Amino acid sequence: MSLPTRSTDGGAKSSDIVRINVLGTNIVVTNTLEASADLLDKRSLIYSNRPTHGLTMMRDLCGFDWAVAFAQPGKYWREQRKVYQREYHPQAIKRYRRTETQAAHTFLHNLLASPEDFFRHTRYVLGQVLIYSAYGVKTKNHDDPLIATVEHGVEAAVAAMSPGQFLVDILPIMKYIPAWFPGAEFQRKAKVWRKSVHKLLHVPFTLAKNLQDASELPDDCAAKSFLADVIPSSADPTYMEYVVRSALAGAYSAGTDTTVSVLQSFFLAMTLYPDVQKEAQREIDSVCRGRLPDFSDYDALPYVHAIVKEILRWNPAVPLNIVHASAQDDVYRGYCIPKGSLVVANIWAILHDPAVYADPESFCPSRFLRSDTNPTPEPDPDAAYGFGRRICAGQYLAHEMLWITIASVVAAFDIVKAKDEAGREIVPPGEYHYGFMQLPKPFRCEIRPRSVEHEKLVLGAVDL
Ligand code: HEM
Repeated sequence: MSLPTRSTDGGAKSSDIVRINVLGTNIVVTNTLEASADLLDKRSLIYSNRPTHGLTMMRDLCGFDWAVAFAQPGKYWREQRKVYQREYHPQAIKRYRRTETQAAHTFLHNLLASPEDFFRHTRYVLGQVLIYSAYGVKTKNHDDPLIATVEHGVEAAVAAMSPGQFLVDILPIMKYIPAWFPGAEFQRKAKVWRKSVHKLLHVPFTLAKNLQDASELPDDCAAKSFLADVIPSSADPTYMEYVVRSALAGAYSAGTDTTVSVLQSFFLAMTLYPDVQKEAQREIDSVCRGRLPDFSDYDALPYVHAIVKEILRWNPAVPLNIVHASAQDDVYRGYCIPKGSLVVANIWAILHDPAVYADPESFCPSRFLRSDTNPTPEPDPDAAYGFGRRICAGQYLAHEMLWITIASVVAAFDIVKAKDEAGREIVPPGEYHYGFMQLPKPFRCEIRPRSVEHEKLVLGAVDL
């Protein structure tokens, strides 16, 4: 392994780009926005492939080969991106706002009933929105079998893609070893995970089809127009149905842990930074005057938008971008980047670059807002959603879901440090599980209604 790092005539900082050679594969890590955007945005025709090696366990053995995030650019990938473009662009997602608001209200109710379970509640509120907006299927509050099914599918896919875990990813020929063979534990795991991944793809879509057949599929879900018009009128309905089925399952798998990470980090940030919470409450109180926020307040609550952005910057859900691969030889700043090189944007480093973000470790939403004391706001953390043609297909939906949920919680609750038996405040260490995504480790905090009036507001708001 070599780590040649070079400052170039292009004026790059010495750690802009790091090249590593692992077993003959050239890996390029870009540590700044400039280098990442130069390659992945400006040269996206070259750098939009995904790796062809190292995913045997996930793709071949567990059957997660339909996921758009790992598809090569081509007809299938383009068709999937069209599904997202149609259903998740900024105008289209406005029809999911009712669902998002209702889910936020249920979330508030759950926080009131069992605040100590807030980690579990975050998963439910976001899963509920992702399922309904995609398939038009209403889920139960907690222990919903559909949510359990799709969650198992996502867990299986994430486990199967763990880098370096499975020898079969390095030696794909091993995929032919039978499950009974001594040491073929990976085959036995794959058999179980394959079933879960299969259900993630098929179960919710079949439910949506059943609703459509019974004329009960609601208009405010993505499956509706596809099942009613696009699939039946397409030249190849079987193929088109497969594309849509995969895209919607892909939305759940790509959208759940990422948004859950942000919402859980929000509770961490509020516990650690009470002044930020107070500032958000001041903004909401002055705009909403005793009611819960809704989407009519969307443009009037810039500080809440800034909180969502700051969480994405402070602890990005995807700290190392999904790997891109190059489709042809290229030269960048004097380096030769051969065809097939892997390019990983170091999202964490980009969003903690002290040259761009002052005091990057501290949580400071106002860095994004123009004011007399901050005439030049810092740039939005767009890198958190990736780059170029592979940029996150659900970024607008993610922002809206998080905005309404966070605004609702801040409006109704105080989130403060829990106390130990001796009455001392417990400062959460802010630890994360690091993997393909980073999710906060469970921590304690106290979540209580701001007043009796706020409690009544929450109790009166549950309308699901
Ligand atoms: C805060 C929440 C989210 C974050 C931080 C996030 C981040 C990302 C990142 C970093 C990528 C890789 C981009 C690249 O390769 O350059 C990605 C891809 C993707 N995301 Fe998201 N995401 C979020 C939520 C969502 C949601 C809610 C959906 C669906 C509704 C979604 C759908 C996708 C899809 C389909 C891809 C694959 C795109 C492709 O490979 O062409 N994401 N996301």
